[in-house]
Amino acid sequence: MPPRPTYTGRMETLLPSDTTVVRRIVAEHKGRPGPLLEVLHAIQAAMGFIPAGAVPVVAEELNLSRAEVHGVVTFYHYFRTARPGAHTVSLCQAEACQSMGAEELAAHARQRLGIDFHETTADGKFSLEPVYCLGNCACSPAAMIDGELHGRLTADAFDALIRETAST
Ligand code: FES
Repeated sequence: MPPRPTYTGRMETLLPSDTTVVRRIVAEHKGRPGPLLEVLHAIQAAMGFIPAGAVPVVAEELNLSRAEVHGVVTFYHYFRTARPGAHTVSLCQAEACQSMGAEELAAHARQRLGIDFHETTADGKFSLEPVYCLGNCACSPAAMIDGELHGRLTADAFDALIRETAST
C-alpha cells in the first residue's frame, strides 16, 4: 500500500468556481452535528476527489485547523487526494472474494495497469480502488468498473474488460 501524503502546511489554491462549490457544500452541512465527514463525502461526490486547496476552505468554514481536516482526509482511504482516472476499477477484497482468488486477481490488476490501489495510471485512464463487498459474493471474485458489476473474474477476463473499457 503506498504511503498516504503527509501534511506539509502548503496548500494549493482552488479556482474561484471550485471555492464556491466547496463553500456551498459546507453551508449545506454546517448546521448538522459533526459535519466534517459529510462535507468531505459531498466534496468528493461533486469533484471526484478532495483537492488540497479545499482543505483550508473547509477548515475555515468549520472552524477547524487545516491539520485536523487534512488528518481526516488522509486517514480514510476512501477519500481521494488526486483527480481520479477516466475509469474507476474497484476490486473486491472482502472475505468471500478472497477465498476465490481476489488477492491473485488484485496482483494481476496491479501489474496489468502498472499501479497500486489508490493510484491512477500515468495516462489518466484508470484508477484502481479496493472495495469490501459488492454484494456479488456468489460470483466471486467480483469487481466494479465504472459502476458496472462483474463476477467470476479471471485474469484473462479482467484484461478483456480493461481493453474494452480503454477503447471507450
Ligand atoms: S465479498 Fe466480494 S462481493 Fe461480497
